[in-house]
Amino acid sequence: MVKRINNFVKIDTKNTTLLLRIDSIPEIVHYGKKLSDADDYPFWEYGKNYTMVSSASDYCGRKCILSFSGDANNRETMLHAVSFDGNGSLRLRLKEVKVGMNKPILNGMPSSYDCEDTVIFVYEDVAFSMIVEQYFSTFTDSDVIATGIRVKNVGTQEFYLRRAFSMQLDFDNGDYSATAFVGNWMRERKMKKTDISVGCTTFSSFLGHSSNVVNPFVLCTKKGKKGFSIASNLVYSGNHKELFDCSVHHGLRVATGINDFMLNYKIAPNASFDTPEAVFTYGDTEENVCFTMRSFTQEHILRKDWVQKPRAIAINTWETFLFQFDKAKLLELCDTAKRIGIELFVLDDGWFGHRDDDTTSLGDWFANEKKLGCTIEDLAKEIHAHGLQFGIWIEPEMISEDSELYKTHPDWAMTIEGVTPLYVRNQLVLDITKKEVRDYLVKQISQVIEESQTDYIKWDCNRGISELKNSGVLFHDYVLAVYDLFDRLTKKYPNVLFESCASGGNRFDLGMLCYTPQIWTSDCTDARSRVFIQEGTIKGYPLSTVSAHVAYSPSHHTFNKTSLQDRFAVAIQGVLGYELNLTALPQSELDEISLQTSFYKKWRNTLQFGDFYEGDGSSDDKFISWSVVSKDKASAVTTGVCLQQDYGVKLPKIRVSGIDENATYKVNVIRKLTDVPESFTAKGDLLVNGGVYLGDLYDMKTLNENSNSIASVLITMERINA
Ligand code: GLA
Repeated sequence: MVKRINNFVKIDTKNTTLLLRIDSIPEIVHYGKKLSDADDYPFWEYGKNYTMVSSASDYCGRKCILSFSGDANNRETMLHAVSFDGNGSLRLRLKEVKVGMNKPILNGMPSSYDCEDTVIFVYEDVAFSMIVEQYFSTFTDSDVIATGIRVKNVGTQEFYLRRAFSMQLDFDNGDYSATAFVGNWMRERKMKKTDISVGCTTFSSFLGHSSNVVNPFVLCTKKGKKGFSIASNLVYSGNHKELFDCSVHHGLRVATGINDFMLNYKIAPNASFDTPEAVFTYGDTEENVCFTMRSFTQEHILRKDWVQKPRAIAINTWETFLFQFDKAKLLELCDTAKRIGIELFVLDDGWFGHRDDDTTSLGDWFANEKKLGCTIEDLAKEIHAHGLQFGIWIEPEMISEDSELYKTHPDWAMTIEGVTPLYVRNQLVLDITKKEVRDYLVKQISQVIEESQTDYIKWDCNRGISELKNSGVLFHDYVLAVYDLFDRLTKKYPNVLFESCASGGNRFDLGMLCYTPQIWTSDCTDARSRVFIQEGTIKGYPLSTVSAHVAYSPSHHTFNKTSLQDRFAVAIQGVLGYELNLTALPQSELDEISLQTSFYKKWRNTLQFGDFYEGDGSSDDKFISWSVVSKDKASAVTTGVCLQQDYGVKLPKIRVSGIDENATYKVNVIRKLTDVPESFTAKGDLLVNGGVYLGDLYDMKTLNENSNSIASVLITMERINA
């Protein structure tokens, strides 16, 4: 809810208030716990008596929601622009405050939906002929605020944007930390907390994708007695930057937006530029703000139809067969999969063109009938006839030189005349910023979807952009082109589940989640590594978005050996699937997988759509636990994973989180689904405050069979009376 109270704008969420004093640039008077309404806030008018170098500056600790180049800001600013003749001094001043507005529909970009109220601040720079509209939107059921700016050219000459962030928040001087989720291919989103000291701490991505090196989801925490946490994220899938600028006297500036690396975006007369939407929230603790962001994503970002739609258990052919398969092999796999409770068959890379390895055929999105021994239509029909859903892998944004598409349209590859192209995984990026290329892709992908009546598409993207023709606009225009493709295809095929993938988790972001309700989290499927990859991912994103598969032991990636039970226990922290040659498994393991799929189906609603709570763990990463609790608190699953048991050191009890402390639960403690669980009933508070003993997680047999082994326990809880 947004209210105008005399000289103030009060932006209220469920539990927080952002109070802004209207000035030439609105001043942040308060961002924190909810304030009561007053007729006026006269004692907060004092801010206007500050001596300012210029009216917009943050001099003397004035905290602002907007800052720009050439305004005597001796620090990082939100907006940089240069006029056609080289002037970089902006003089934006507030012209109008509009309350009770609709949230702007962004030009070519997705954003959050179902907001409650919006305020728009309109600023003008007469000399520059620039209008900036900055919005803040609230949501009835959430503490998240969405924001962004639209920059308009109302003059007769072009100007150039060199930086246009989506959000700026200033905070009082204090002792802060910044937490980012960093990594690389195969080790995405490891939580990394950095103490902020004087100077600027930045996190950014550079190759056109959002997120395996650093995710746009960040936390900022003020330490000490009156501490608090802020979380922010961007609804964007390209290069982004988060900055934490801390000066000796003036406190902390937090900003996020498109990375200004190479940015030089021409805004012609009458044209405008929208920044991606930023979303942020305030809370007492990091855990609280993470919880808020997950719920917000579930309720205001994910495609509505998919928010509560149970996700099928998949068998994926990638790690299973890599490129070596034919129809007989695929149908044998499908047959076995069906018998053990799997619901979705995903034909990964290698089914199209003449692709038998990663050197050819990207762009040729028609079946390799010679290899398959049938058409894609026939194969899909057989899979469907087995009672499984059918899914297929594509990598539409790429082109192989060895492809029909390249022969016909060499000019569609992103290359620069006279510059030796860089090949990554032997492929080039397709120039999807060209409309005719996108039209071709929509046609080709539609044909595949219709021929195979596919239920699911895994949309991959395995390299970044290195050919920087039109460098000032390329990265952003590329993202707009990706969104155009997704927008057209998801509207045309609303019942197809699109799963995004970019070498695993290189586009795990809110922009993608507006179209693809789940994302392949990482190419690393080793359970031990996945504990941390998923732990970092789930801080900012809901469980139903996190795709997680049981794969081979020893792991193809780390060579760690892990029992089937323990691989499963980690993979159910998200959307379960398998990448295993089921047809080569002994019957005992197939029986075990049958138990796993039945277990997952029974608890699926809780595991995919329940509330996630971090649990007890050890600071040295040797033990970690988490709980997932259904919204009505009637059922819960707690998982504990021990990554190393030191000799003679007893494992801690696991305390359960989030259940109803006054209700009684039937509890099963499961070390192995093949064994009879330990069962008892207990009142919620005993489980929450007391905890459950784990016993000996490691047994000699498991230890002997598995090197560098993890050991897990599952605790299921069903409420038997309230
Ligand atoms: C990427 C994906 C994998 C798989 C391969 C296929 O690496 O992340 O899951 O689809 O491509 O080439």
